[in-house]
Order: sequence, then C-alpha cells, then structure tokens
Amino acid sequence: MTKQLSFLLLTLLHCTTILAQSPAQSPAPAGPTNISAILEKAGQYGTLIRLLRSTQMEDQINTQISNSNQGLTLLAPTDNAFSSLQSGTLNSLTDQQKVQLVQFHVIPSHLSISDFQTVSNPMRTQAGSSNNGRYPLNITTTGTRVNISTGIVNATVANTIYTDSQLAVYEVDKVLLPLDIFGPPAPAPAPSKPKKVTPAKPKKEGTSSDSSVDSSGAMGLFRHGIGSFVVAVIAAFSL
Ligand SMILES: *[C@@H]1O[C@H](CO)[C@@H](O)[C@H](O)[C@H]1NC(C)=O
Ligand SMILES: *[C@@H]1O[C@H](CO)[C@@H](O)[C@H](O)[C@H]1NC(C)=O
Ligand SMILES: *[C@@H]1O[C@H](CO)[C@@H](O)[C@H](O)[C@H]1NC(C)=O
Ligand SMILES: *[C@@H]1O[C@H](CO)[C@@H](O)[C@H](O)[C@H]1NC(C)=O
Repeated sequence: MTKQLSFLLLTLLHCTTILAQSPAQSPAPAGPTNISAILEKAGQYGTLIRLLRSTQMEDQINTQISNSNQGLTLLAPTDNAFSSLQSGTLNSLTDQQKVQLVQFHVIPSHLSISDFQTVSNPMRTQAGSSNNGRYPLNITTTGTRVNISTGIVNATVANTIYTDSQLAVYEVDKVLLPLDIFGPPAPAPAPSKPKKVTPAKPKKEGTSSDSSVDSSGAMGLFRHGIGSFVVAVIAAFSL
C-alpha cells in the first residue's frame, strides 16, 4: 500500500467519524422552536405529532411559541395514552373537535412544575374559556406530583419532556378528553319541557287514575290540574 493511499483512507475514516458524531453534538435544533422536532426527539409521540399536523395546530403552536409573551405549555399524551382510548375514539371526532381536543392540551402560558401548585381551577386552555363549564381542566398537586382532571379522565403529569423560557412540554399518561366533546350533552333549554307534559297526561289519566297524583304534594296536584285543563281545552275545541 502506498503512503498516499493510506493517508486517503485515514482521512476518509476521520470524516465518517465526524459525520457519525455530529447529530449528538447538536442536541437542540437550531432556529425557531419546532414542537414536532421536540416530540420526535422524545420518542413515543407519533400519534400526537400526526394529530398536530392534520389539525394544522403544529404551525399554529410554533408561531405562538415565538410570538407569545407568556409562553406556552403543552400536555403531551404518549402513544400508549392514545392507544388505550376506546377504539374509534379519534375517528369519531369531526375536524373541528380534533382541533378542540388538541387545543385542550395547550395552556396559553409557560408553567413550571411548581407553577402548577398555584394555578386556580378550572384552568384556562386554548380550547376556550372555562366560563361555560364545558372545558374545565383542574389541577391537584402533592409536592411535585401533578394530577389533572377533566371531569372525564384523571391523568398524571409523568415527566418533563422539554422546557425553556417560552415553552414547557410535559408527558401525560392519558389523553385529556374534554367534557364538551365526551361528556353528557349540555342541559336542554327550558322551552322543550311543556311539550313533553301535555300530550302524555290525558292518556295516563285514563289508564291509572292515581299516576299523576302519586308523586304527591303540590307539584303532583299542579300537574294534574294542567292535565285536566288540557283535556278541557281539547274538549272545548272539538265541540
Ligand atoms: C419541524 O420538525 C419536523 C420533524 O422533524 C419537520 O418535519 C418539520 O419540517 C419541521 N418544521 C419546520 C418549520 O422546520
Ligand atoms: C393523584 O392521582 C393518584 C392516582 O392516579 C392518587 O393516588 C393521588 O392521590 C392523586 N393526588 C392528588 C393530589 O390528587
Ligand atoms: C374543577 O374545579 C372547579 C372549582 O374548584 C369545580 O367547581 C369543578 O367541579 C371542578 N371540575 C372537575 C371536573 O373537577
Ligand atoms: C377522578 O378522580 C375523582 C376524585 O379522586 C373521582 O371521584 C373520579 O371518579 C375519578 N374519575 C375517573 C374517570 O377515574
């Protein structure tokens, strides 16, 4: 082997070593914060990354991270958390509901683990103000242990995935299902009630005379009165 050839081989070897090392030498991706890159690096967040992408929340979150004064906190459910959902759960959601589901995992401020101890419940998420009671996210803590309750699921903050001055990303062991999408339907508006009462009453009186009174007290008598009134009105009209 000539001297020149061995020099060439050595140089080549040196280059490959550098190439192999370089990813490990740059742990933080350069440029603006990229939520998908952070989750990709952490591993086990494939479902969340796909959901962020399909809802276009990926770009929105990245933009918010760089523009927000208060920063952002993402509660990130693992692939395990998603796969332990009842099958078909995600597919049953409309596009709008998928966006709301993702937004429910985003808190519009940077929270350190100790900040969770002083938040007031229900906490505001990007899915909307909790004033309407349909997107409550409640935090309870014991020391550094942080529990989350949505009214549908109880979850635990399992790990810090990433934190800088603007962004905090925490692993949660459950998908945070909001009451608005997965809870019982909101209470029906009042006007629908009289409809139910009026057609049923006259029939009941014929079959069992006591049924409308046996709930006893003023209410039963009152209902009985309405029933009789309706019967009287119907009778009057049919004359
Ligand atoms: C963010 O990172 C993901 C995953 O590495 C990549 O696919 C995407 O192109 C990046 N987005 C930007 C805006 O750099
Ligand atoms: C948090 O949840 C765990 C069960 O997941 C429970 O044992 C613990 O008491 C809860 N802590 C608080 C403060 O709610
Ligand atoms: C959340 O906390 C608020 C205020 O303490 C309470 O009224 C509400 O019932 C709680 N909801 C859930 C789902 O824990
Ligand atoms: C969540 O925790 C609360 C309080 O500990 C409990 O009453 C409720 O049943 C739990 N809900 C679920 C879905 O586990």
